[in-house]
Amino acid sequence: MIELVYLNVVPLIKPKNMHLTHISLTEAVALSLALPFCVFILILIFNRYKYKKLSSVSLKNKHVVITGGSSGIGKSLAMEAALRGANVTVIARNEQRLINAKTAVNLCCSKFHQQRIHHLSLDVCGNYEEVEKAFIELEQEIGPPFMLINCAGAAVCGKLEDTSVSDIKKMFDLNSLGSIYPTKAVVEGMKSRGLGHIVFVASQAAYVGIFGFSAYSASKFALRGFAEALHMEVNTYGVKVTVCYPPDTDTPGFAEEEKTKPQETKLIAQTSGLWKPEDVAKQIMNDTLAGYFSSDMGLDGFLLSVVCAGMSQYSSLLHLILQIILMGPFRAVAAVYLFFFQKIIKKCMEVKNKSKKIE
Ligand SMILES: NC(=O)c1ccc[n+]([C@@H]2O[C@H](COP(=O)([O-])OP(=O)(O)OC[C@H]3O[C@@H](n4cnc5c(N)ncnc54)[C@H](OP(=O)(O)O)[C@@H]3O)[C@@H](O)[C@H]2O)c1
Repeated sequence: MIELVYLNVVPLIKPKNMHLTHISLTEAVALSLALPFCVFILILIFNRYKYKKLSSVSLKNKHVVITGGSSGIGKSLAMEAALRGANVTVIARNEQRLINAKTAVNLCCSKFHQQRIHHLSLDVCGNYEEVEKAFIELEQEIGPPFMLINCAGAAVCGKLEDTSVSDIKKMFDLNSLGSIYPTKAVVEGMKSRGLGHIVFVASQAAYVGIFGFSAYSASKFALRGFAEALHMEVNTYGVKVTVCYPPDTDTPGFAEEEKTKPQETKLIAQTSGLWKPEDVAKQIMNDTLAGYFSSDMGLDGFLLSVVCAGMSQYSSLLHLILQIILMGPFRAVAAVYLFFFQKIIKKCMEVKNKSKKIE
């Protein structure tokens, strides 16, 4: 590289009457480092500018459909969409919680133009024909969806032997099929209109399998594979796909998950913090509108997104460059994390064995 700069770039920028040997090796090294650095800074500035421009686009007159929109992250996403001027449909099963959420979403609407906030009671992983019929009726009533956010999901935390078969089935049905069914119902329409966003709210557990999340992780990993393949199918039609990887977020769903969470999982999760649903929702909406393939939160999210990038679609040129540079070093950091996670698990096992002996 240094030799390349020395022989090709230096003669271009040095005055003609100055001899090539007047450039010292130190200068050549500095130049060879400065050039890629300047290019990187330019890409960074361009990326920030483009992101800001796209993520602040208004959703006025656009229809945003959110499954799981009556609670937690989904409800915050519905409020975020309403704040940006969208007509919003929240989908979940419990009618009363939907009505409560609709009231909260209505409060986020603009006073200056008419926004339609609609709710729909539907089991997204029940019968596919019913899901399809509901989406056809919804389109006739409110208009074709510009954005579908698949947020309905749940985690039942626990060691595999402590997790019932019905809970395992429930997680696969809801977390995988519950996103695939609504997507199948809207994808053809979006492709024919050449416009649309399909969002999958996965989890950081879709990047890495963590103690106590075996079935949940598997159901969210499935979602990631589905989204990657779907992206290849729809991207050329102008339809964007975004997969979101929220960390632990303070929601009713998270409170439920805590009830069965093993000590090992709690200690491992302590290494990252607890996020507010409105912050997660804002980040998801910004990344989606910017056309990013993945939406990650915080430093842990960034580390995971780089180290797990593999053959995954990249969100921007900047992301690709960072992944190429940082994947190796981050793998070393990830190995340190894994080492400490194993230490936590071993320690918990020792404590349990000790207390068993005492009994
Ligand atoms: N909270 C976290 O720490 C966290 C972290 C990472 C990822 N996530 C993911 O983020 C998403 C939202 O999590 P959350 O914590 O905000 O959950 P939440 O507060 O429990 O809300 C779940 C929503 O999904 C709906 N839902 C559940 N089953 C449904 C079904 N069969 N059909 C239609 N709607 C259904 C619920 O309403 P009904 O029960 O009335 O149907 C509710 O509106 C989930 O996919 C979760 O896996 C959460």
